[in-house]
Amino acid sequence: MRALDSLEDSDLAGAAVFLRADLNVPVDGAHRITDAIRAEAILPTLRALQSRSVATVVIASHFGRPGGKVVADFALERLRAQFESIWGMPVTMLANPDAVSMQAIAAAKESNHSLTVFLLENLRFHPGETTNANDFSHALAALADVYIADALSVCHRAHASTVGMVEVMRDAGKTVVAGKALFAEMAALSTATSAPVRPATLMVGGSKLSTKLAVLGNLLPSIDNLIIGGGMANLFLQAQGIAIGKSLSEQTMLPEATAILARAAQLSTQVILPIDAVVADAFASTHGNQVAIADVGEADMILDIGTATASRITEVLTQSRTVLVNGPLGAFENPAFAEGTRTVFRHLAAAPGTLTIAGGGDTLAALRDAGVAGKLHCETTAGGAFLEFLEGKTLPGIAVLESAAKN
Ligand code: 3PG
Repeated sequence: MRALDSLEDSDLAGAAVFLRADLNVPVDGAHRITDAIRAEAILPTLRALQSRSVATVVIASHFGRPGGKVVADFALERLRAQFESIWGMPVTMLANPDAVSMQAIAAAKESNHSLTVFLLENLRFHPGETTNANDFSHALAALADVYIADALSVCHRAHASTVGMVEVMRDAGKTVVAGKALFAEMAALSTATSAPVRPATLMVGGSKLSTKLAVLGNLLPSIDNLIIGGGMANLFLQAQGIAIGKSLSEQTMLPEATAILARAAQLSTQVILPIDAVVADAFASTHGNQVAIADVGEADMILDIGTATASRITEVLTQSRTVLVNGPLGAFENPAFAEGTRTVFRHLAAAPGTLTIAGGGDTLAALRDAGVAGKLHCETTAGGAFLEFLEGKTLPGIAVLESAAKN
């Protein structure tokens, strides 16, 4: 990997900065942020901008997958006040990357006040974001003199805000650098993954099946054990002909899951799936029942791993020298279904002589819920990007920063 330029490499005084963050934060039904780690991650960069006398910063992010149109539930505006208290700074919304926003930025720049913080409304309200459209990239690039990428968790996406606008700014001779969080995450991950010792175990859970399945297939040759829990396990249980009742799954992904199981068998990679589960009739239930996996009923939702599964997983973790984790093993956001994830994560945090690396917003929230945040060797908010990094893939959002690096 080429060295990236950092904030320290450039003169930022009086500049208008565009800061690509990842504010794809978990929220509850009342739009309260339930885990602020991704928003907090840009604090070191924001402080550096203040101390370097930057005039304005437009913080930009996607939030959810609204599909290129305005969807009220995915409006960042609704979270603005919470971001203000997390960052300790007043935040002014910008609706769109357009002339109105450019005027607001220019006025703030001229006012000569200390750092003015703008928050651009959800990038994915525009179809041009995910298609990396040229006109949208130009509209974004026009908002700033300096581009800062500060979230590894979005660097696997070749979108307008992560690649297109960066190319436009690079080609226009504008400053393009990595922020403090991105630098720290890249450094920690590179060190942690430089020499993985076998046996190596990959433990995956959570949802986002479509993003994760292809990566799993590619990682199989480099691991000895594949532990699957959470929403992800439902699909693999189905692929083995096990009934999962009303549990979440993605039927269309069944052939891919079947192929992964076959490939794992060929490679002698051990696959560990739940042998028991905690089930209930809804996510919001206040308690669940533990059943053997063969006894999941038609009306049941699998919401946590059972105690026998947790013991089996901890055995495998104890035998592993490297453990890579992405995703919780159950619906840990509800305390009734958090126990399996807590047991396994606490065991992992205490595993002597094992290199432990975790990635993903939910994963970090679950580590925090288990009371062991900060106890693994490497913890990154990046989820899908973390898995692609492990595969050895070049992340488009990193490649474009490398192409712009001057040092
Ligand atoms: C994430 O939550 O992993 C990142 O914010 C990327 O989100 P995406 O998978 O919707 O692109």
